Amino acid sequence: MNEQSPRKLTINILRYDPHVKGDKPHVDTFEIEEAPGMTLFIVLNDIREHHDASLKFDFVCRAGICGSCGMLINGRPGLACSTLTSKLPDVINLAPLPVFELIGDLSVYNGKWMRGMNERLETWIHQKEKEMRDINRIEEPMDPDLSEEIYELDRCIECGCCVAGCGTLQMNENFVGAVGLNKIARYRLDPRDEREDADYYELIGDEDGVFGCMTLLGCEDVCPKKLPLQSKIAYLRRQMVKIGLTKDIHKCDCLEHDEEY
Ligand code: SF4
Ligand code: SF4
Ligand code: FES
Repeated sequence: MNEQSPRKLTINILRYDPHVKGDKPHVDTFEIEEAPGMTLFIVLNDIREHHDASLKFDFVCRAGICGSCGMLINGRPGLACSTLTSKLPDVINLAPLPVFELIGDLSVYNGKWMRGMNERLETWIHQKEKEMRDINRIEEPMDPDLSEEIYELDRCIECGCCVAGCGTLQMNENFVGAVGLNKIARYRLDPRDEREDADYYELIGDEDGVFGCMTLLGCEDVCPKKLPLQSKIAYLRRQMVKIGLTKDIHKCDCLEHDEEY
């Protein structure tokens, strides 16, 4: 029998807890024996159970659904629970996702960032007519292809990987990120939302929105749900340019008009 002995993994973790007085950023190294089907979730639990109970990291679902276990895995944003160690080299470097407020070690407050973004972009169905808001009203049926398209964008789990991998967000903390633009694309598709492009322009028609995107594709590369972020951002940008040009034309009309008087 010639069974290969399991790999020894070296796990380097960037650690720092801003809430512990005097703590400084440093790297702790752990040696782990790889097991079949091992994920980084299993690795981190092993470390916490057998090496260092103080290690901080977040998990809820362990199935790529809750979006809480995002971290930098060898420099690339990804979900720890759905990353197999067999896909990684012997040395694995882990660090918290940048951009988000650090709770400690690998744990970040991405929920706070997401809440702020959702409130800012008003990511809920807007209906002007009062009777439309009647919860006893029977909803109009939706075209299955359209509902499928909406569902596709609704698969976002708000993990923040696209935020952490975004060049614009490193320079402009107010940028809404691919996750925010994806949300706008989702509500724009939904016939129950009565907002018009001019309303969306007020939300994303500037450098903090769709015109801040540098189209470098980092977001789509790292999105664990493989959302079509680029095609949606490109589509939104085209629509917002149209609205922007209309606004500029109106502005020019006014100026010309002003000059006449
Ligand atoms: S394409 Fe735009 S949203 Fe995506 S990572 Fe680049 S700058 Fe950020
Ligand atoms: S768009 Fe993708 S990477 Fe960004 S938060 Fe949603 S699931 Fe995560
Ligand atoms: S633990 Fe829920 S996505 Fe990883």
